[in-house]
This record gives sequence, C-alpha cells and structure tokens, in this order.
Amino acid sequence: MQEAGILGLGCYLPPKRLTNSDLEKIMDTSDEWIITRTGIKERRIASSEKATSDLGLEASRAAIKDAGLKPEDIDLIITATITPDMAFPATACIIQDKIGARNAAAFDINAACSGFVFALIIAQQFVNTGFYRNVLVVGAEKLTSIVDWKDRSTCILFGDGAGACVVGRSEDRRILSGFMGADGSGGHLLSVPAGGSRLPATEDTLKNGLHFLKMEGNEVFKIAVRIMVDAANKAIKKAGLELDDISLFIPHQANIRILLAVARRLGVPEEKIFMNIERYGNMSAASTAVALAEAGQQKKIKKGDNIVLVAFGGGLTYGAAVIKW
Ligand code: COA
Repeated sequence: MQEAGILGLGCYLPPKRLTNSDLEKIMDTSDEWIITRTGIKERRIASSEKATSDLGLEASRAAIKDAGLKPEDIDLIITATITPDMAFPATACIIQDKIGARNAAAFDINAACSGFVFALIIAQQFVNTGFYRNVLVVGAEKLTSIVDWKDRSTCILFGDGAGACVVGRSEDRRILSGFMGADGSGGHLLSVPAGGSRLPATEDTLKNGLHFLKMEGNEVFKIAVRIMVDAANKAIKKAGLELDDISLFIPHQANIRILLAVARRLGVPEEKIFMNIERYGNMSAASTAVALAEAGQQKKIKKGDNIVLVAFGGGLTYGAAVIKW
C-alpha cells in the first residue's frame, strides 16, 4: 500500500461579483433576509462564454503548479460536477485536452455537493493501490447556468467557481480515512428534473422550468445537519482519532446556519469550522475544493494538524475525509 497525500492545491473564482444588493434590484428580496437566513453576502458569476471546464482548467493549472508537476505527470483526472459543459464528453476529458495532460485518463463523477470529497476518496484508492501515481481531482461548477432567477428561494444561494488538488504518493498532507454514503430515497429533494433520459428537452419541459435546479430547502436543511455530523464522526473513527484530535473542519458551504448547527451538534467551537460562504455562496462540488485550497493558502492549517472535509448534497449523498497535514 502506498500512502496517498495532497501534493498541490489550487482554486479559481470568476472575477464578477453578484452582491445581495444587486439581487435586491432584480427580485423581491433583501440583503438582510439573505444574510440572516444563509450567511451569504455575495457570490461569483462566470461570464456567458465560460463553461465549467474553463473554471476547472484554471484551478487545475494552479494545483499542478503547486505540486511542482507538469500536466504530462498526471495519470488520471476526476472532475466532480453537476454542471458539466455538456452531457458528454466528460468535463474531465475537456480539461485533459485543454491542459495538455496527454498521459491522463479522465472521467466525471456526479455526487452533487459531495462530489469533491467522493473524488478525493476515489483518487486515494488509485494511489494507495499503486494503480496511478498522480491523480488530479477537480470540483468545478457553473451553477448560475442552472438556477432559476425567478425562484428567490434558490437562486440567492448559488455561485460559480472551481477548486482542484493533486493526490499522489506522500507522507505529508496524508489522507487518513474516508467515508461515503448515499440515500437515494431523498433524491427528489434536490434535483434538475429534465434534460436526461426521463424527461428529454421538450417545449413543455422548457415552459415549466424543469431544466432548473429545484429544492425543498426546509427538508434538505434538517437532513443536512444530521448526515454531515454522521459522516464526520464515521471518518474520524475510521482514522482512529477522537473529535478533540481535529484542528479544523472544512464543511460544504451550503448555509451558515447549517454549519453552526453542525458545530453545535458535533460539540466543537465555531472557530474550528472553516467558512467562506459569505463570499461565494454554495458552489456545490467546488465548495469544499475551494475551501480546502483557501484554508491551505491562508495557513489556517499547521503541519501535523488533523482536518476533516465533510459534505452532503443531491442524491442524497454525504461523505467525509480526514487529512493529516
Ligand atoms: N428573500 C426574501 N424572502 C424569501 C426569500 C428571499 N430570497 N426566499 C424565501 N423567502 C420567504 C419565503 O417566501 C417565506 O415567506 P412566507 O413565510 O411568507 O411564505 C419565508 O421567506 C420563509 O421561507 P423558508 O423557506 O421557510 O425560509 P428558510 O428559513 O427555510 O430559508 C433556505 C430558506 C433555502 C435558505 C433554507 O431552507 C436552506 O438553506 N435550506 C438548505 C438548502 C441547502 O443547503 N441546499 C443545498 C444543499 S447542498
């Protein structure tokens, strides 16, 4: 068994900011409502000519550079996204081509907001077994392409962005454990109903807005807290650690109230929960990827610290990973 660790990190946020006061001008909402209910002040919006692969490409370049590698050194690219450039080819293949990773296999995974954590755990298995040496893991989303700007209860929550890391043989920043779970019975709570084989695009699906993200926010909220706590505890136990051994939790940035409730239920102080939701909103698979890259860049994690990445999302899916820095 090879030890698998994080060799490099990177992220990319499109420069254009959409603030709550910008939203006040186009819909019946208020800065005060959005901040109190969600903790979000602004989110990033990719321009119309950019697709998810363009965001993922920038984050990937940064992660490969940070790892001190070249694109040719990458053996596999896994992109976690629910907003692929198109149904196929995979966004990972598009990134592989654009970045010039000519020796890499590439595929996408769809585990919604848990996607980056799932992809990290998949990468760990390939490195552990020696099947691959360097795996590029990308979480990238252009969620503003699937939100319904007429639905104020969802569109205020989401933003665009990408984060990436290279997983390879390393004793440092070692992935100690991972846990993944799913509950398909809750799939209807968070979905884009049309555009697949169940409801291909028709005039009716377009007219009824079925290509937009739909969410039962209250239900998702209740389940989110429970499954994030469960996933974090399971991954910590698998790593042979106790809650007190964890220096920082990096959760999926869905809603500040969810994050605070998770802290309370875990019994850890707020300071141990990394938050950047205020600046970016929920970026689905990109959220934990960007948060991990920022926590690393901002030196929030010291050598020897144990950290927990934990996420939940559409599927429903949930997962966590413990990393020793
Ligand atoms: N601005 C102003 N008012 C809004 C609003 C907005 N953007 N969106 C909804 N409201 C209104 C509702 O219409 C409702 O009004 P009513 O009482 O007159 O009917 C009121 O605010 C309360 O709505 P409710 O849905 O109960 O609010 P909430 O406190 O549950 O917050 C969410 C809504 C979506 C912020 C919250 O449920 C949430 O974050 N859920 C989790 C979602 C999530 O994390 N999803 C991603 C999973 S990866």
